[in-house]
Amino acid sequence: MKTTKIFADRNLIVGKVQPTLYGSFIEHLGRAVYEGIYEPGHPTADQDGFRGDVISLIQELNVPIVRYPGGNFVSGYDWRDGIGPKEKRPVRLDLAWHTTEPNEFGTDEFMKWCKKTGITPMMAVNMGTGSVKDAAQLVEYCNHAGGTTISDYRRANGSEEPYNVKYWCIGNEMDGPWQIGHLTADEYGKKALEAAKVMRWTNGETEKEAAGERLKLIVTGSSSHEMKTFPEWDRIVLEHTYKQIDYLSMHRYYEYDEESDHPLEDFLGAADDMSEYIKTLKATIEYVRAKVRSKKQVHISFDEWNIWTQSAERTEPLWKRAPHLLEDVYTFRDMLVFAGLMNTLLNNCDIVHVACLAQLVNVIAPIMTEKGGRAFRQTIFYPFKYLSNTARGETVRTFSDSDTFENQYGKARYLNEAVNFDPETRTLVVSLCNYAQEKRGVELELRSFGELKAKEYVEMTSSDLGAVNGFGAENVAPHEKDLPAVKDGSRVSLVLPPMSWSYLRFQA
Ligand code: AHR
Repeated sequence: MKTTKIFADRNLIVGKVQPTLYGSFIEHLGRAVYEGIYEPGHPTADQDGFRGDVISLIQELNVPIVRYPGGNFVSGYDWRDGIGPKEKRPVRLDLAWHTTEPNEFGTDEFMKWCKKTGITPMMAVNMGTGSVKDAAQLVEYCNHAGGTTISDYRRANGSEEPYNVKYWCIGNEMDGPWQIGHLTADEYGKKALEAAKVMRWTNGETEKEAAGERLKLIVTGSSSHEMKTFPEWDRIVLEHTYKQIDYLSMHRYYEYDEESDHPLEDFLGAADDMSEYIKTLKATIEYVRAKVRSKKQVHISFDEWNIWTQSAERTEPLWKRAPHLLEDVYTFRDMLVFAGLMNTLLNNCDIVHVACLAQLVNVIAPIMTEKGGRAFRQTIFYPFKYLSNTARGETVRTFSDSDTFENQYGKARYLNEAVNFDPETRTLVVSLCNYAQEKRGVELELRSFGELKAKEYVEMTSSDLGAVNGFGAENVAPHEKDLPAVKDGSRVSLVLPPMSWSYLRFQA
């Protein structure tokens, strides 16, 4: 059996994990909103129609921030359609997903849902068919106290107090030809700069000060590093907007492709590939920061990431309300890659300050529901749950002598790890993926954390890489292991099953 040595030292800190690293995303797409978070008449729904069973599962995931209302949807969306008396709201064609949008759920309902769940809203404005004025007026609707026609609409619609929304995405995937109102980098950069400026003014901010909290503004970066325009798109957009914004967004979905030469290796290479992608954008940010002579540090908002079988065919007809779209049922294999992606986010937490698992319910999501009925946890639910609940401190740099395998992106490590230490609770968390098809020994050398006591050890393993969960059948779930011995307070020897994810928690 091969053994990999992994070394981590308390003093070698990558960065603090921002709580917003564990964000997620709800789009008006398929059954994410309707039959997902919102289903009046469902046995667990409250008086506002919010599904209680779904809220409980989201709370289990401990998601602190949710991006809304899209996604591609936002680029054709007029936020005014989603406010006011429900019976008067227009029913529209959604050209992003070719569905019918009833607008029964809109900004006020989302804010109410956020308040109920304790989740921070992260709003996106329309930079496709929408104007700078539309974006600024949505800020006014959400954040202005009152006394103007637009802010008084909000008050009339039931919210006397402003929502004080802080996080704003200026558009979505504007580099993609599939986007409604797609722009060139130069066009988008100019428009985003104006939107940012005017949104800040509307929020009562001057260059130096703000009436309330300053907005956290996110410009649209590349939709993936496979875009022909990557990374020029990012450079150009940043050059236009650097001084006005706080984050550059990035998106990436990975897919298991049976047609590829080495399907398994090519899929398992995702975590290390995502790391390279982040590093390129980090370097792009640094380049632009030097070029525009700014002392400010722009961070990354990785506001769409997940596994998504994009090649799956659509089976639902056009223009249906809340159709079953993008309802990927995640396999054990998907979970393995997903856990590696989480490790990558943790290992890059110095630059990635916001990340949104896309999405949260029904649409490429960890939670699935049936209309009027049950909900279940997908395989990917678990790594998110364990890490989101405990890996909240500082990521510590690791050194590993793992061997590597070839894949479509280059080389990737068989042993993929992340180590996180919370100095407040003195909790040390280790997340380990074994991508080898044989069991592997691991020697953890965890120095200078103090005397460690093992508190929790869970493992996800399966003889069937294609195993999935379903309603009443959550077969793919972590199981508890006997706690490992800690030698000399800091050394731990483990044996990881082939193709597995392991999670360990220690108290220092
Ligand atoms: O999350 C699904 C879609 O993926 C989003 O609408 C879009 O932004 C991305 O292409």
